[in-house]
Amino acid sequence: MKTQLFNATAQKENGVRLAGSVIRAGGLVAFPTETVYGLGANGLSGEAVAKIFQAKGRPSDNPLILHIAKKSDAKDLWTKVPPMAQALMDTFWPGPLTLIFNHSAQVPPEVTAGLPTVALRMPDHKTALALIRAAGVPIAAPSANLSGRPSPTTAQHVLQDLEGRIDIVLDGGPCRVGLESTVLSLCGAPTILRPGGVTREMLEAVIGPVELSPAVLAPLQEGAAAPSPGMKYKHYAPKAQVLIADGTPREAAEQICRAYDMATLAGSRCMILATRETQGFYRNRAYAIIGDRRDPSTLCANLFAALRQYGEDADLLYCEALPEQEMGLAYMNRLLRAAGFQHLEYP
Ligand code: TXA
Ligand code: MG
Repeated sequence: MKTQLFNATAQKENGVRLAGSVIRAGGLVAFPTETVYGLGANGLSGEAVAKIFQAKGRPSDNPLILHIAKKSDAKDLWTKVPPMAQALMDTFWPGPLTLIFNHSAQVPPEVTAGLPTVALRMPDHKTALALIRAAGVPIAAPSANLSGRPSPTTAQHVLQDLEGRIDIVLDGGPCRVGLESTVLSLCGAPTILRPGGVTREMLEAVIGPVELSPAVLAPLQEGAAAPSPGMKYKHYAPKAQVLIADGTPREAAEQICRAYDMATLAGSRCMILATRETQGFYRNRAYAIIGDRRDPSTLCANLFAALRQYGEDADLLYCEALPEQEMGLAYMNRLLRAAGFQHLEYP
């Protein structure tokens, strides 16, 4: 299969209409959202959705998010809607918040992996919304990476993983948030299954206390049931071993320097994901500045691109931990998975 690339930001022919008809005809289209690129198929067709799992090499028991272009489209897809859903949708849609509801009979089992629930999201991105409207159906879409690779935040990342496996890539430039949406279950007490661009603090300001699934910051216990099937799988694992340094910025940077110097002497290829505030500590070592600790959303926006860029050639990739609040929680959730939960252990 030849994959066609369209520039979706150009004024003239932008491929969105063609992409909409490809979705309706059962094909696969990668498209930009404010979080990461998605790999879309007709969300009402089990046969079309099955192609997503094949193209990504995704385990078939990991359910997909249905993307809609207007809030009222949700009502054909859900049943038993809790009262707080409306306030959340009014506040955060369109935006990086995925809500889990009990699903209607319209939703094929390929989307939900046979669960009684469905994940719904209205993305905050012009091209994504235009594509859903052009397709005229909800679009089922996971992140547009090969299973186990970092989620793509540019069209080039999508091509690296999926060229020749999908029909179309719509290029909308780099994604603003850079990490996937917050996944919030509304079946029972509101619980964050995956932190993202809408923070726990933002949610609590609207609906009061929100629980955090224990699997957000710790490995899932062997044999424990996963509240979200995606938690079971190894995620975002680059070839390099990612190592996380805890403590204050100075403590983290000093630990990284000691570990880096020892590993380099022992012949390992080392790389540091630095921040504006800590770059001064890393002089004469290989580092890249990926953002500003005072604004964790800048680190979130660049993390996956940095894992792709530096995670394949280095043996060891050193990163600083952030406080697990606001966007720092989403950052640490992804970093911990990339690291297989390994922290640096140095005196
Ligand atoms: O920002 C995003 O959410 C991106 C863009 C493309 O919208 N999509 C995305 O999809 O990250 P994906 O498939 O990579 O992640 C969806 C997560 C998975 O961890 C999956 O297990 C969980 O949501 N999920 C989907 N449906 C669920 C359900 N019914 N119950 C619990 N978890 C569910
Ligand atoms: Mg994914």
